[in-house]
Amino acid sequence: MKAFKRILVTSALPYANGPLHLGHIAGAYLPADIYVRYQRLKNRDVIYICGSDEHGVPITVTADKEGSAPQNVVDRFHAMNKEDFSKLGICFDNYSRTSLSIHHKTARQFFTKLYEQGDLTVHTEEQFYSEKSQRFLPDRYVEGTCPYCRYDKARGDQCDSCGKWLDPKQLIDPKSKTDGSTPVLKETKHWYFPMGRFAEDWKQWFNSQQWKENVRNYCMGWYNEGLGERPITRDLHWGVPVPLDNTEGKVLYVWFDAPIGYISSTKEWAKNQGAPDQWKKYWCDNETKLVHFIGKDNIVFHAILFPMMLKRMGNFVLPSAIPANEYLTIEGRKISTSQNYAVWLKDYLASFPPDPLRYTLAANAPESKDTDFSWKQLQSRNNDELADILGNFVNRTLIFVHNFFEGKIPPRIELDAMDKQMLKTIQNAPGQVGTQLENFEIRNATKTFMDVCRTANKYFNDKAPWSTRKTDPEVCATTLNVCLHVVNVLSVIMMPILPFSAEKIRSMLNIESVNWDDVAHQTLPADHPLGEAGILFNKIEDSMIEKEVDKLNALAGEPSQELFNKKDDLINFDQFQKMHLKTARVMKAERVKGTDKLLKLHIDLGDEKRQIIAGIAQDYTPEDIVNRTIIVVTNLKPAVIRGEESQGMLLAVRTKESLKLLTADGNVPPGERVS
Ligand code: 2FM
Ligand code: ZN
Repeated sequence: MKAFKRILVTSALPYANGPLHLGHIAGAYLPADIYVRYQRLKNRDVIYICGSDEHGVPITVTADKEGSAPQNVVDRFHAMNKEDFSKLGICFDNYSRTSLSIHHKTARQFFTKLYEQGDLTVHTEEQFYSEKSQRFLPDRYVEGTCPYCRYDKARGDQCDSCGKWLDPKQLIDPKSKTDGSTPVLKETKHWYFPMGRFAEDWKQWFNSQQWKENVRNYCMGWYNEGLGERPITRDLHWGVPVPLDNTEGKVLYVWFDAPIGYISSTKEWAKNQGAPDQWKKYWCDNETKLVHFIGKDNIVFHAILFPMMLKRMGNFVLPSAIPANEYLTIEGRKISTSQNYAVWLKDYLASFPPDPLRYTLAANAPESKDTDFSWKQLQSRNNDELADILGNFVNRTLIFVHNFFEGKIPPRIELDAMDKQMLKTIQNAPGQVGTQLENFEIRNATKTFMDVCRTANKYFNDKAPWSTRKTDPEVCATTLNVCLHVVNVLSVIMMPILPFSAEKIRSMLNIESVNWDDVAHQTLPADHPLGEAGILFNKIEDSMIEKEVDKLNALAGEPSQELFNKKDDLINFDQFQKMHLKTARVMKAERVKGTDKLLKLHIDLGDEKRQIIAGIAQDYTPEDIVNRTIIVVTNLKPAVIRGEESQGMLLAVRTKESLKLLTADGNVPPGERVS
């Protein structure tokens, strides 16, 4: 493998059009932060670059919805997201914004150079235009049905369901997102990046590198379909203006300018360091390892479009690794910002400390497949692993030394086989965890770390210092010396994943210097006075997570008002027919343990039996509902609610005062189709 002199890490620039949720964090930010913190502890030359993506249709759509200016939207969310990242301990070297002039200038330079060397094409084409609003409708200003997978909310530029890149004109039944009108076609002139022209060159480079499986598969899929030409300008008033004459009202496409944001953010960082040219060391030298952390929906831009642009620019480094993550679901359901179904980082941080979330998401990172976050899992990772294993080991060690060795590191006298085994395990730990982090295996690294904590706890138990203290004080001193050594090493190798708790342990140990490679070989100085011992992790009570689950269930049961208020959003009969509604008889009902809102219903659907979890316990007791004939949606994807699978959804009407079930009038057998 090539040895690099320095590492340049980027995380996808989040749009400054809304708050961050856990899906963002698990996908592109926490894994990068863990990787960067590790590289810093290895004393590598590494910088971590990010910033807000402040252009494009996502921003103007939000501004339109709010009735405010795009600048107000991005100002607000840039500040909010920057603060939330910092509270979670995401340690960027620079967090910039694409609305800054340093970025506009850099993006203009890219466009101009590509234009001047003949790398762009220009076409006059028909594009969607709203006569009602007198404006063009680029990208997600148009929605319609995807021609590939039939998803009916596909956006003009990309289908969220199958991931295909779209031309708005491919949409079936297109509608303007702003005014609901059916758009007409009108001529407009745009500049294109002819990716097909550079495809063979790109492929040669792409095939010469090692890529994560999802990156390779997606990219080869796109390549095989033909890369064609991509328009890189838009008819919009918000963005980087096209740097050519007579282009009033046209800006660069957000996916052309946003990745350049990595470069402009590095320029801003260099300027702030007082060495404005320093950015070139990272971007224009082949000895830099460029790593893009992203979610899988961004693969094509980072693995094809941006590398092609960089290559055509001449002297830029290309990415060496793109650890693209899959998606995080929440309590078994896809995150949906439009339906407000998400756990918002801000809300989490208002009630819980950052490290348990970092640990839970790291242990369950969606590296090779989608993974699920549940509050129950957060609770058990915190209580059963962080508190009961790591916290317990550190705490019992420190308290013991405070109680019986005057708070000073006891001497290591003679090592027996068990001590030696423990020391061997801890000596290997930085190397093992480090190799996993180096390979972007955050889940494995987290597991390796917790396994070492388990071993350490067992060692403490097996050595029983509370009894050797009386029978053999030298053995007891050696045990505690070994335990403190283990605590010291753990506090370093946990730093990337659990930085806040690691800092607490460092102050309990009262040892300042840290170094990934040396820590396992250092011997702690006997008699060194320790700092005060404290609790590392408080238990998360059932009531705390119940509150959070209830919040989500309320969202799950209540589509946002916005969906109801859209009067033009009509569906046809075929679409209605897609939903399977059937009568069901409730055979048995019971409360879901630990909740006051949920009932588990066992239902008879005529030719099959199922269970569903329904948030109706405040309005119906199990006795009320048994033997009733209710209406159930039977072809909804199953969801896991409070650890129980719900294989359907009953229909009910929720008013301000209460909830009423929809039932069939008269005597209807179970399993009948409702239409
Ligand atoms: O998908 C997104 O949220 C985009 N804002 C990511 C941009 S990544 C980069 F290219 F800047
Ligand atoms: Zn699709």
